[in-house]
Amino acid sequence: MSAKIIDGKAIAAFIKENAAKDAAELTKKIGRHPCLAVIIVGEDPASRVYVNNKKKACEACGITSLEYALPEQTTEGELLDRIAALNGDDTVDGILCQLPLPKHINEEKVIEAIDPAKDVDGFHPVNVGKMVTGGDGLLPCTPAGLVEMLRYEGIDPEGKRCVVIGRSNIVGKPAAILMQRANATVTVCHSKTRNLKEILLQADIIVASVGKPHFLTADMVKPGAVVLDVGINRLPDKTLVGDAEFAEVSEVAGWITPVPGGVGPMTVAMLMKNTVAAACRRAAAR
Ligand code: GUN
Repeated sequence: MSAKIIDGKAIAAFIKENAAKDAAELTKKIGRHPCLAVIIVGEDPASRVYVNNKKKACEACGITSLEYALPEQTTEGELLDRIAALNGDDTVDGILCQLPLPKHINEEKVIEAIDPAKDVDGFHPVNVGKMVTGGDGLLPCTPAGLVEMLRYEGIDPEGKRCVVIGRSNIVGKPAAILMQRANATVTVCHSKTRNLKEILLQADIIVASVGKPHFLTADMVKPGAVVLDVGINRLPDKTLVGDAEFAEVSEVAGWITPVPGGVGPMTVAMLMKNTVAAACRRAAAR
């Protein structure tokens, strides 16, 4: 058997088209484009690539993007001041501070400084709380993108067993919550989990967010299962791979997301969707 490859790039293109339509409509109403402010601190090369992708997507969607590229030695206070200024700027709809931040800056403090109404990453505790209780806050982009991909593929998580590997605040934890909201039965595994293979073999849907290449092998996947690979790992020869051993896992799985071209483009598309949604809500609240 050979898995259906889920084309994240194509689904992302569709979501961005819709975001662009909504952005154009709102632009007519409010007399300016929706606006996303992106802050990047330091010179992490992966972060630079992600930020560039986000800016490119804004351009394609009719969203104004502002970039604040701050030096590595920026103090926490300076960063918080920048965020306070963007919170108070009525022409800014979304604020995103690219993670990771340099070690001398407290990420939690920074995330909590962002106005929840402008928190297009969905990382602020207010939005996390709404996500957990089923409210309509801004949802984190990568996990929301996973659920959206399943919807486009006609895969309903309801009643299915979903195993999430990884418990980060950005992916694992929120992915588990959103899969549960979609009525899946969810198990979260992590580095301390015993009998991981045994648990994984029960999964109808696997979310792999480990950050280790070659982690998920074919013997850990139930025939026909859906494998959503969130890993973005750079091999010594510079090749980009996910957490799944793609060639062998795709022989067993029913569906699989490729790396690149799977979950990554969806994250950016969901960010566009969130930015337009934040702009629409802010306009309506005026
Ligand atoms: N670093 C890795 N993923 C993300 C993300 O989704 N948002 C932000 N702000 N930083 C990240």
